[in-house]
Amino acid sequence: MAPDGSKYDGGATMVNPEGTKGHAHVDPGINKDALRSEIRGALINRKANACPMAVRVAWHSAGTFDARDGTGGSNGSLMRYEPEASDPANAGLSIIHDMLHVVKKRNPNVTYADLWTLAGSLAIEFTHGPNVPHSFGRMDAPQGSKGPDNGRLPDAAQGKEHVRDVFTRMGFNEQDTVALCGAHTLGRCHIVRSGFDGKWTTNPLKFDNEYFKNLLNLTWQKRQWDGPEQFEDAETQDLMMLPSDLALLDDPAYKKWVETYAADENKFFDDFAAAFSKLLSLGCPEAACPHLNAGAKAEPAAHRDAASAEFREAAMHGHSVELMKKIAQDADVHQLEKSSGRSALHKAAFWGHEGTVCYLVHECGLDKDLQDYNGDTPLLDAVRFGHLKVVDILLKAGAKPTLKNAEGFDAFGLATEYGKDDVLKALQAGASRM
Ligand code: HEM
Repeated sequence: MAPDGSKYDGGATMVNPEGTKGHAHVDPGINKDALRSEIRGALINRKANACPMAVRVAWHSAGTFDARDGTGGSNGSLMRYEPEASDPANAGLSIIHDMLHVVKKRNPNVTYADLWTLAGSLAIEFTHGPNVPHSFGRMDAPQGSKGPDNGRLPDAAQGKEHVRDVFTRMGFNEQDTVALCGAHTLGRCHIVRSGFDGKWTTNPLKFDNEYFKNLLNLTWQKRQWDGPEQFEDAETQDLMMLPSDLALLDDPAYKKWVETYAADENKFFDDFAAAFSKLLSLGCPEAACPHLNAGAKAEPAAHRDAASAEFREAAMHGHSVELMKKIAQDADVHQLEKSSGRSALHKAAFWGHEGTVCYLVHECGLDKDLQDYNGDTPLLDAVRFGHLKVVDILLKAGAKPTLKNAEGFDAFGLATEYGKDDVLKALQAGASRM
């Protein structure tokens, strides 16, 4: 339900990060390489490798989809709100939201819905699985929105009929269902989260087809314990299967695919990547559906965005003013890079391109004091690297040396911190002239 009590409409009332309503488009301002490495750092670091859990977050954010009425799905990032936030099936998963918080802060233009699904698809790749196509374009539902009632995610205690009901409801056939369940090659069950206990494979941090091999080739016996019914391998008792995993052997239409994937890892990788990508885009705006996007024509706005990105890129490389003027004909020279809030002037100042800085300040009229998402101005960028001439141009043009970045440094403090004595002198001389 939407905040006003009407049925949640899956997109039209959602806000994009700029606060405007409507459907998002694929954002050319997102630096996918930078985002990828930030997500990697958030998920895999000295404290943890949280890839399996990130896959589960992406799957649970999307797995509420109902193909019959289009409700649920990853669009809206409704796991942030009730009832999904306290769905017992999601117990413990908010850890991933918190791990990705730093990435969201650095990339405020990326919606939670896109971030969670992207992190899940990248986690497959980070654990040596296939590349899972992912596109941007999901929206975040506003505070107070309410998704479907709990109970749409599968119950591990149940068998083949339940598995079929849940995956058919999402719009998947048997082949897709088995491929998707192969994600249990990663990670493990935790008593504190689900009540179940143990891992499916010998290396829970490696994406491969061992889950299917184990399902088929090991002997599974009921574990004798106080917890819910689950199965252990008879030989080592070190590996486990859930009742819903064994359901895949219990139905010939499923078992056929278990056998296929146990024998052919490449086939599993291909089918998993296609099915997981589809899962993550169920119920999403068209922009977030890679299969629908293929071959889409660039719109005029996209063309201008591309030219503006090219303009910033040219500034970063210090290309000739002549070339910059040519690109500027189609570009918005003031446009900021959405992933960083940085202008062409930031980029030219950062790399110390004096001629470009002059052109951008004096001919294009770019804002000298604009602060990017880290609070850095073009002057702070130039100071940090000791680009004395650029500092001089910016100071003479009236840039303010007293503005502070997110670390609390103004231009004087930054010059001191980085030991740029000549720049510090220039700053002090400029200040005494004022
Ligand atoms: C019949 C369908 C499914 C059921 C009943 C099911 C159930 C479960 C349960 C009970 C856990 C243990 C959670 C915990 O204790 O931490 C789990 C973990 C996991 N599931 Fe599933 N799952 C299903 C399908 C899927 C699918 C389709 C995916 C992804 C495409 C997936 C990915 C994972 C991953 C990666 C973990 C490990 C999480 C971790 O290590 O923290 N599952 N699943």
